[in-house]
Amino acid sequence: MSSVAIIGSQWGDEGKGKIVDWLSSRADVVVRFQGGHNAGHTLVIDGKEYKLNLLPSGIVRKGKLSIIGNGVVINPTALLKEIKTVRDKGVEVSPENLMVAENANLILPVHEALDEAMEIARGGKSLGTTKRGIGPCYEDKVARRGIRVCDLREPDLLLEKLEAMMRHHNILLKGLGLEEIDPKEVQSELLTLAPELLRYAGIVWRKLDEVKGQGRKILFEGAQGTMLDIDHGTYPFVTSSNTVAASASSGTGIGVNAVHYVLGITKAYTTRVGTGPFPTELKDETGEFLGQKGKEFGTVTGRKRRCGWFDAVLVRQAVKLSGMQGIALTKLDVLDGLDEIKICVGYELDGKKIDYYPASQTDQARVKPVYETMEGWKQSTFGARSWGALPAAAVKYVRHIEELIEAPVSMLSTSPERDDTILVRDPFLG
Ligand code: IMP
Repeated sequence: MSSVAIIGSQWGDEGKGKIVDWLSSRADVVVRFQGGHNAGHTLVIDGKEYKLNLLPSGIVRKGKLSIIGNGVVINPTALLKEIKTVRDKGVEVSPENLMVAENANLILPVHEALDEAMEIARGGKSLGTTKRGIGPCYEDKVARRGIRVCDLREPDLLLEKLEAMMRHHNILLKGLGLEEIDPKEVQSELLTLAPELLRYAGIVWRKLDEVKGQGRKILFEGAQGTMLDIDHGTYPFVTSSNTVAASASSGTGIGVNAVHYVLGITKAYTTRVGTGPFPTELKDETGEFLGQKGKEFGTVTGRKRRCGWFDAVLVRQAVKLSGMQGIALTKLDVLDGLDEIKICVGYELDGKKIDYYPASQTDQARVKPVYETMEGWKQSTFGARSWGALPAAAVKYVRHIEELIEAPVSMLSTSPERDDTILVRDPFLG
């Protein structure tokens, strides 16, 4: 076992930061493969706090190679700013420890402008995006008019491509009442950033093949969560990339058989930011309790997260979609003190019970959760480091989750502290 992919099994914000940090301390290479700077987590290492959006978590640890794969959409200004921020905290960032795929697509100011304008145009039916230009950039990639890192090496080709891109977008910008963008100005801005960015540009698939051959440990760091996957999530209320484990391969150029262990990061209840269906959402005082106690506010946008009961149907679906061999269960301590805890074990749709989350947008909004009620616990689980330190009712809750989602708990996290973790199975050891 030398490579692990970590994947969010709900709607993102499952507490991946701490688990990624824990695993990246054991890895040699840490790789981002999808999404962009819409992701965000905070790492605390030796008392220093680092907020990362685009850089892989390995960057803050000495001797690790961090890679941004072709499946990631890169805002060059945001990336260089993030590099500067971590450098200012004493972290060394150089082509020795950071590689950016030369075939990754770039997020340009036009993408941000369109993201924002389209959200406004959707009115009451907005998707609740992070407005970072993620969707419009992936749209251009698929439409084959995107700008890639390697295009920065060829100023004339870059201008030609920008002219074609802006011919398309300026019509839309004009229609939306926004100012048109001059491709020459974008070219000149990009060429100013190019020398610094191109220092990191490299052939990621070859580098990964090389480190794989050396038997080095690779950690694939997924962003967002399964229910935000462009194909398998709550479409259209999703992000614009595939967030499932298969993306670790297509988003980097490593073969699918190179990912040996898929770890699903799973919160002991459910949260969601932005709009879209959420069957187990609690709009009552229990929801408020979970939000306050779990400090459920978005790290990127600061928005309040919606909270609800654990949905075993959704997580089981995520386990199947990514082939998760185990999960890391996070934030169990947030449930401490509740008299009873509910788990969604199925849905009711038109009087029939179903055991999966349907694809239809209407059905996703209509399903009624079928709950099982479990006894809560009064004792604290905060900071527990062994099963023995957990109240019996908490152990029962965890065991029941394992049964329902058809996957074992490999790690149990009981506080934001790195060491407050019950390790059942080290994912790098399989
Ligand atoms: P986008 O990725 O900015 O296009 O946003 C699309 C949807 O994904 C919105 O509902 C966002 O709130 C959600 N989203 C994007 N990134 C994250 C994340 O890292 N955590 C949780 N939700 C996210």
